[in-house]
Amino acid sequence: MTETENKHDEIEALLAENRLFAPPTEFAASARVNSPEIYAEAAADLEGFWAKEAAQLDWFEPWHTVLDWQAPYAKWFDGGKINVSYNCLDRHVAAGRGDRVAFYWEGEPGDTRIITYKDLLEDVSRCANALKELGIQRGDVVAIYMPMIPELAVAMLACARIGAPHTVVFGGFSSASLSDRINDAHAKAVITADGGFRRGAPSGLKVNVDEALQTTPTIEKVLVVKRTGQDVDWVEGRDVWWHDLVPSQPADCPPEHMESEDMLYLLYTSGTTAKPKGILHTTGGYLTGVASTHRLVFDIKDDDVYWAAADIGWVTGHSYIVYGPLANGSTSVLYEGTPDYPAWDRWWDIVEKYKVTILYCAPTAIRAHMKQGPQFAQTHDLSSLRLLGSVGEPINPEAWIWYQKYIGQERCPVVDTWWQTETGMIMISPLPGLTVTKPGSATTPFPGIDADIFDHNGDPVETGGGYLVIKKPWPAMLRGIYGDPERYERTYWARFPGNYFPGDGARRDVDGYYWLMGRVDDVMNVSGHRLSTTEIESALVSHPAVAEAAVVGIPDDLTGEAIFSFVILKADVDGNGDLGAELRQHVGKVIGPIARPKSVMFTPDLPKTRSGKIMRRLLRDIAQNRPLGDTTTLADTSVVEAIRSSSAAASDDE
Ligand code: WT7
Repeated sequence: MTETENKHDEIEALLAENRLFAPPTEFAASARVNSPEIYAEAAADLEGFWAKEAAQLDWFEPWHTVLDWQAPYAKWFDGGKINVSYNCLDRHVAAGRGDRVAFYWEGEPGDTRIITYKDLLEDVSRCANALKELGIQRGDVVAIYMPMIPELAVAMLACARIGAPHTVVFGGFSSASLSDRINDAHAKAVITADGGFRRGAPSGLKVNVDEALQTTPTIEKVLVVKRTGQDVDWVEGRDVWWHDLVPSQPADCPPEHMESEDMLYLLYTSGTTAKPKGILHTTGGYLTGVASTHRLVFDIKDDDVYWAAADIGWVTGHSYIVYGPLANGSTSVLYEGTPDYPAWDRWWDIVEKYKVTILYCAPTAIRAHMKQGPQFAQTHDLSSLRLLGSVGEPINPEAWIWYQKYIGQERCPVVDTWWQTETGMIMISPLPGLTVTKPGSATTPFPGIDADIFDHNGDPVETGGGYLVIKKPWPAMLRGIYGDPERYERTYWARFPGNYFPGDGARRDVDGYYWLMGRVDDVMNVSGHRLSTTEIESALVSHPAVAEAAVVGIPDDLTGEAIFSFVILKADVDGNGDLGAELRQHVGKVIGPIARPKSVMFTPDLPKTRSGKIMRRLLRDIAQNRPLGDTTTLADTSVVEAIRSSSAAASDDE
């Protein structure tokens, strides 16, 4: 039976992608993992595998139980005592590696700082002592609302050092989002800055904190970094300048001995509709998971210069800018600004300047670069790069190929990493020295991760489309939704009892590779066929004129739902003439007539969340000419107007 015949009435798999990329011989020869035994070993003894990974960290006291699983609640390394900041800093300094660079920081205006592990340990210790002076004790929650400056990482590590869970709120969020999160988390203090730089202009943060704190009774203190020098209001007795308090503190602060299952942080997922969920992560298992995946997925070596071009305010930044890389003693780049400031070659300038060897970013950024064209990358020396990563959404095969060709110069393996805020760590990904990659596939589960694809009855789908599930606990998994166990159980564990349901559709091909197909809530039902958004969008992006696409289902008398597509053209293409009809034909040809969009609308932009995810809910509203629902998580509200006033839809006339 072919994959397309295997219908189940789950999600149909239509897209065929046959290009294969084996790891380059030289890369494989020196890779950390280049033989497949690791998968079998981990599968044969999952707890043993993770215990071995955990043993690479420094524990104050050993655990007595590797895993205590009372579904859906896991305890990893129970009885163990550990401190995350100690593992990220002290142990490297103690091993004589204090002069290694932890961060090459580059501010958006072009100011720079080089921070060694020894510097970072001292800064973190001073900040930890300052927090204590402000009355923060072990167990108190601290909210962090900052630009991408080194003090953001320092603040997180200082919290971890004294056992105060942090909740980082992305600096682009509004004062209302900030106060909601502060109140849900019962935070006692806020660490912020006067402002940050965004596309050349200072944008205020302290002003939003002042506004948010009108409605947050639990906040006692506000610690403020001076970054932009802009004017700020000041509340005596509550507000304290970082430069008045932190630098004068003693440069050592003994790390708290935390329980493995003590809370390390809360991170709120924006969610597209409902109230944000406070995703709860704990200490020993989380650090084990992120250190292990960072080391093996990115093949980290001592001489690497690693750059995750994401914001620390997202889980990518928590796990793969701060905790994973520092636990591994890596050297990283930290960049404050956007890819297009002052011009579209800013990233490539940074790669050249710091001789970046590993770049990790999101498909939305890759497609934005693709839209501008390769000439910006071509004016820079990118020969230092040896590995590329992608995260955040399904990467369309054409974007994957563009990334591999123009950025990786056909020399670098590409690791497409599937995971979530909730999973804490990478779950499905190639191992770059071992896995033969297929553009658009996240390939196979990481060693020690037991994933599967189920049909609606919870039976495994051998090949074909269905619901992605994780069948066994993993160390960095969320431990709950803060303050709402009922919602935790309902959201993740009720659909297939005993199995974690991430909410994504996926298909498995004949080689056992996983192809993520988007959120199951976005699946469209056209004439009884359940179609994935991802495949149709990838088919559109495979046309040479298209830079980015989003599709949604809208009600249709004849077919139940019809596919409505929004298309962003490449910068040098003009959308006149018959391009709409041509694109519809193209999709029909690439994946079949059933998937042909009924309408194609050319648009200058798409509504996205701040982390770059397309808000299909708003696109459905636009496609049906309805008033918009909740737009609070929308990154740029002008986008919707721009779409509405852009060219008319070309609709089905056949
Ligand atoms: C959702 C999680 C993981 C850190 C950033 C996003 C989608 C993420 C991939 C990928 C296909 C992906 C999924 C997932 N997603 N990575 N490589 N391929 N889809 O974290 O905001 O919690 O979002 O992003 O739909 O469930 P997040």
